[in-house]
Amino acid sequence: MRRFCVAALTLCGVGTLAGAAAQAPAAGQRAVAGQGAVAASQGAIEPGLDYHSYANVEQFRTTHLNLDLQVDLDNKVITGEVTLEFKRLDPGATELVLDTKNLTINDVSQKATDVLGATSKSETIWVSRPFHMEKPDPILGSALVIDLPPSRKKVESIRVDYETSPSAAALQWLTPKQTAGRHRAFLYTQSEPIGTRTWIPLQDTPQIRATYDARVHTSPDVRAVMSAENDPKGKRNGEYSFSMPQPIPSYLIALAVGDIKFQATGPRTGVYAEKPVIKAAAKEFANIEAMIASGEKLFGPYRWSRYDILVMPPSFPIGGMENPRLSFITPTVIAGDKSLVSVIAHELAHSWSGNLVTNSTWRDLWLNEGFTDYLESRIMAAVYGDERASMEAVLGLKALRENMATLKPQDQVLAIDLRNRDPNLVFSEVPYEKGRLFLKFLEAKFGRDRFDAFLRGYFDHFAFQSITTEQFLGYLKEHLLDRFPGTVSGDQIHEWVYGPGIPSDAVLPVSAAFEPVDAARTAWLGGKLATKKFGLDWVPQQWLYFLGDMPALNLAQLADLDHAYGFTRTQNAEIADSWLKLAIRNDYQPSFARLEDYLTTIGRIKLIAPLYTQLMKTPAGAALAKRVYAKARPGYHPDTVAAIDAIVNPTAAEGSNDQ
Ligand code: BES
Ligand code: ZN
Repeated sequence: MRRFCVAALTLCGVGTLAGAAAQAPAAGQRAVAGQGAVAASQGAIEPGLDYHSYANVEQFRTTHLNLDLQVDLDNKVITGEVTLEFKRLDPGATELVLDTKNLTINDVSQKATDVLGATSKSETIWVSRPFHMEKPDPILGSALVIDLPPSRKKVESIRVDYETSPSAAALQWLTPKQTAGRHRAFLYTQSEPIGTRTWIPLQDTPQIRATYDARVHTSPDVRAVMSAENDPKGKRNGEYSFSMPQPIPSYLIALAVGDIKFQATGPRTGVYAEKPVIKAAAKEFANIEAMIASGEKLFGPYRWSRYDILVMPPSFPIGGMENPRLSFITPTVIAGDKSLVSVIAHELAHSWSGNLVTNSTWRDLWLNEGFTDYLESRIMAAVYGDERASMEAVLGLKALRENMATLKPQDQVLAIDLRNRDPNLVFSEVPYEKGRLFLKFLEAKFGRDRFDAFLRGYFDHFAFQSITTEQFLGYLKEHLLDRFPGTVSGDQIHEWVYGPGIPSDAVLPVSAAFEPVDAARTAWLGGKLATKKFGLDWVPQQWLYFLGDMPALNLAQLADLDHAYGFTRTQNAEIADSWLKLAIRNDYQPSFARLEDYLTTIGRIKLIAPLYTQLMKTPAGAALAKRVYAKARPGYHPDTVAAIDAIVNPTAAEGSNDQ
């Protein structure tokens, strides 16, 4: 319900994207010394081995990146220079392996001081180094292998000159018409999980953390922002500098360029957005400061100094992305009444779970998302009250159950086996909602005070580290299970993390606020309650619950509801989504103009994929889906295109993962 589902492709039961998902990196295909990507994929999983990166992290570890990027909005290309500072852990290692995908590498050079040709001690000379690209893998891209002479230097630097390709999966280039302001082109990155390698050659694995500096050159009429220290008051002149002093994993490096304005919402918070939406956004997100304060009270200090929000163009494929210091947020959460701001609580919560303590590999994603869903609930309860948080938890559980019903048992586990699969295509509710239930279970068993103290200790202990599921379990055993023996057994924990389904000892959320909704629905369906006689004091979560559990309706019933409550024209994107699903299911034509408008303006997969799926169930609906999709597709993000292709043109989508 709350999750975008590229997973729709493989795990949400909508179809398959055989081409991308099924292709294994053939064993023995590469001779490079990498990690999991190269290892044979049979046998037991090795926790901590990143099967989605070629980087040889046991030999080299990047500590700092320096980026110099020229963003050409007209030609849709980034020409870049990245300098990687790294430590050589293995003095015998002479091949540095970086991840790349669809990049053109122009030159690789190494920083050499005091070599022949340098005129003074401090002068830096860059010496070209031999390099080659390995055969590309459809999911992982190509390993860039750089030959290095042996060295005992503490820190070394390599510079790579490169350019991106128009098919870079992490970049969306929008024409002026596709933006809210309609005057300037826009570029943004969405790199999690393995997209950074499509715009920067680097060790693209979450277990490497690096600080970064960047200079970004654009035309002077646009502004660049990054997941780093930004200067909100800085001049708009086409030259921008950034610095991220905390070490972060590669998937959190983010960039956006466009006609972006800034409005402060507090001393350490503010909103970046295009002019037409900035006022509404600043109003909608006026409570960010209160959210940060409650996060700090519960989980320990906020360690990223500022927290700003960048409101994305409507085609942004997901709800939000926790880019540090600057969350990227879909405009579809601006409902006018703060009813959808749990997305903000979620992305902010990642400042602790995810950005401070990070999943070591994509198998461990639940450490990011499950913890964050739990933290999100706690922040929502603190700022908006327990009832709101419980309603959202019940809706989340409903989504988990519906989603799980479509998943194979092995994909219902928290620590999921993603070997030979595109992690982009295997997302489901499981790491989120089952992860949240797991933490809720621990909280219930040990009591909130002990669990809160445990969480604070966990964030302190692993601050700025990337950890595996097993490292978490070790910490949990030492600091909770063994400290309060007889409360929860190792077997129970094992079932939660490695078993399918929802364990029977789960503590399920309930909300009294849904009782009158159930009663009203039943009475209304039975003709015992007139339309307009209920719901006057309902909040949007209650309406979502009301609509989500509706059986088939006749046209008179739909028209009645629509006239009474104005669903067709609602400005709440989630309610619109629920309503439009009902409208399609029951062929309620008066909503179809809105449906068409919705599908052609919004690119958030979670909202539009279910509508296309519903349309495809009848021949008339399929014809409509194809017609609207033809119009909408050029404005969608590559991930949205991949998801909707698989629904609308399943056979054509197979085997092609280009756009
Ligand atoms: N980090 C995720 C988005 C993500 C996860 C992108 C994995 C790629 C791979 C982000 O924090 C997220 O979970 N977004 C949710 C919103 C949220 C309120 C659950 C989304 O976009 O649906
Ligand atoms: Zn998240």
